[in-house]
Amino acid sequence: SEWDREKRYTSLHEVSAYSLETLKSKVAHAPFRLTYHIQPPCGLLNDPNGFCYFNGEYHLFYQWFPLGPVHGLKHWYHVKSKDLVSWEDCGVALIPDGHINSHGAYSGSGFILNDSLHVFYTANRRDKNWKRSCSQVIAKLMPNGLIETVNDAIESIPPEYTEHFRDPKVWQEGELFYAIIGAQRKCDLKGTGVIYRSLNGKDWQFIGEINTQLTQFGYMWECPDYFCLTEENESFGVFIFSPQGLNPTDDKFQNIYQSGYIVGPELNLPNLTFSHGEFHELDFGFDFYAPQTTMTPDGRRIMIAWMGLPEIEYPSDKDGWAHCLTLPRELTLIDGKIFQHPVKELQNLRKEVIFKGYADDKSIIGRSAHFELILSDDSTFDNFELALFASDPLLLNNKDSAIEKLTVRYDSMARQVTIDREFAGIAFATKYGTTRCYKLSKPLTHIQLFGDTSSLEVFFNHGEAAASLRHFSAVNNNAIIWQGHKTSVTLWQY
Ligand code: FRU
Repeated sequence: SEWDREKRYTSLHEVSAYSLETLKSKVAHAPFRLTYHIQPPCGLLNDPNGFCYFNGEYHLFYQWFPLGPVHGLKHWYHVKSKDLVSWEDCGVALIPDGHINSHGAYSGSGFILNDSLHVFYTANRRDKNWKRSCSQVIAKLMPNGLIETVNDAIESIPPEYTEHFRDPKVWQEGELFYAIIGAQRKCDLKGTGVIYRSLNGKDWQFIGEINTQLTQFGYMWECPDYFCLTEENESFGVFIFSPQGLNPTDDKFQNIYQSGYIVGPELNLPNLTFSHGEFHELDFGFDFYAPQTTMTPDGRRIMIAWMGLPEIEYPSDKDGWAHCLTLPRELTLIDGKIFQHPVKELQNLRKEVIFKGYADDKSIIGRSAHFELILSDDSTFDNFELALFASDPLLLNNKDSAIEKLTVRYDSMARQVTIDREFAGIAFATKYGTTRCYKLSKPLTHIQLFGDTSSLEVFFNHGEAAASLRHFSAVNNNAIIWQGHKTSVTLWQY
């Protein structure tokens, strides 16, 4: 096939600058490119990595296969920002060197050590028989912009776990460094997280498995993350991870893989007991996976995720690129549940106000494919349907023509919101259904939406629920149409 093993495992060291430029310029003119999201210049993006604040700037990396829209040899791409909103392109930062990470520089996290940005990541390898092995590597961002290995910190996997052992996330408690790593137990082939500790950030000791009540919860936990959030002056532990292998039930677990969290009193170190509540998904949209968080200098906990999923073909693949990251979201804890607010810095992206006022039954709020839209109701919303990226009714020659649209609906009796992408442009991932639903805990009063060419992120009731998704609607379909009772609306061009 076009993407045979050899092609998939080609590194940037093996291609000419010219051929990379050719790939980039083809993608630069491709349809569906986003305007204010982080996306790859060509090739495939997946997990956000190494997210941290250092010397006045946020640094963010992502998993990158440069040469095409497939999960080939993973490199790390680097962007940085002063405000979490406008990102400077720093180019590739980690190129697998053929030895320790011969089959990919997999996911990892960032931390500051001796006044330099360090990362802790999984170096992936395969042998002649394609058997996987890996180690966890400490590396450092050098002045030339490249990440170089410092030491192979965890060379071998503890005997209780399989070779599915990856994605170290570092945090600090006083003088000590801790890291949580996604793992699979040998005894029952179930997913879990294991914890390491370090005094100097370079030498790491295994301390054990996090002790949760989710002992039989999928076959692998990818991209774990642990941090604390405060609610009413009390600090709680939050453990985020991306379990694989959960079966869909009711409205839950509809995507191929999940991402969610559990909350409880702070993790008891070093005995590793974590007593926690129910597992909640972070996002009920179609495309959300492998989130990573960091803390801002003013103490906010910010999360960014991959707006995509593994093992699914996306319509942009044919143009040589795939996927983007979500907008950064601030996490807070309310009644023990995570609320997500798009970071306040995003307001810097607001250009002109396209519409401000009231929308009435069947009105066109405006036309835009790069926008922020806020709808609010003085009381609570009645049933409605909001069509986005919709064909323009004025351009349809007869009003019965099929219209293309991405819809957000609300059923006030059931307090249920639905996202429907059945009629939104090019169909993909339909095996996993074309609608996603969520039952709110309170009646709906506020919705905030961010649309960007081929993405949509929606926040309900100030972040009680969030939905992220990609859609591939025809370029000219940018009408925003309200069908419902009178509601207050502000629409900004982005
Ligand atoms: C999650 C993941 C990680 C791994 C990386 C490889 O999407 O599978 O577990 O480190 O992607 O690209």
